Amino acid sequence: LGSRDLSGRRVLVSAGPTREPLDPVRFISNPSTGKMGFAVARVAARRGAEVVLVTGPVDLPDPPGVRTIRVVTAEEMASAVEEEAREIDLYVGAAAVSDFKPRVAAATKKKKSDEDEEVTLTRTPDILAALGKRFAGKAEAPILVGFAAETEALLQNARKKLAAKRCDLVVANKVGRPGVGFASDRNRVTLVGPGERANIEGTKEQVADAILDWVVPVLEERRPR
Ligand code: PMT
Repeated sequence: LGSRDLSGRRVLVSAGPTREPLDPVRFISNPSTGKMGFAVARVAARRGAEVVLVTGPVDLPDPPGVRTIRVVTAEEMASAVEEEAREIDLYVGAAAVSDFKPRVAAATKKKKSDEDEEVTLTRTPDILAALGKRFAGKAEAPILVGFAAETEALLQNARKKLAAKRCDLVVANKVGRPGVGFASDRNRVTLVGPGERANIEGTKEQVADAILDWVVPVLEERRPR
């Protein structure tokens, strides 16, 4: 039996993509499969935490012992996270939330025409940044862990996100290479924040364990039981 070092801790995890509708049968999304976030939820539960998982549309079954909430859009994910974040010790944002949505979602299927179509995109809420703002400077602030999926300037962009979203740690994830990142069973990440750890490579469960290994001592210090 492994360590139960998260027993008594409440953990909220986001996973998967979101879908932003153009019309009832079309949407904007990304290739996230939920594997990374589900691995974090599974491993946190195995380590004794009470886990809630908010996930966008993915093909994975609910992890055992994890309360799983399924949503579709960024706005739905934002409301579910906001609601579930009330008494947590840790938030891990592994979801690939769409940053933009079509300004208008047509009520009926759009007809084809020979003309080009223009679609105006508008911003969705930034779920992680909203948590950073809500808990900034508060005694009850949970540990906030974000991910940064980047195709270039990985560490610089991850450091910017760490500051901009006021989180405690950013898991920098180079994407756009086969074998790691979106959809694969393995990942390679760098933990950006105090106590930086470079090039952690392994299955998504091993990466999840490494993230939680970083979190546990910070929790003991900031939120002693
Ligand atoms: O799901 P898999 O197929 O296993 O793939 C895993 C993954 C590549 C999706 C995952 O490891 C990952 O990197 N997730 C974050 C992807 C992402 O959207 O990164 P970002 O740099 O756009 O966002 C940075 C952080 O802000 C993330 O924690 C994200 O959850 C959060 N965010 C972003 C936008 C938004 N509107 N709200 C948010 O909360």
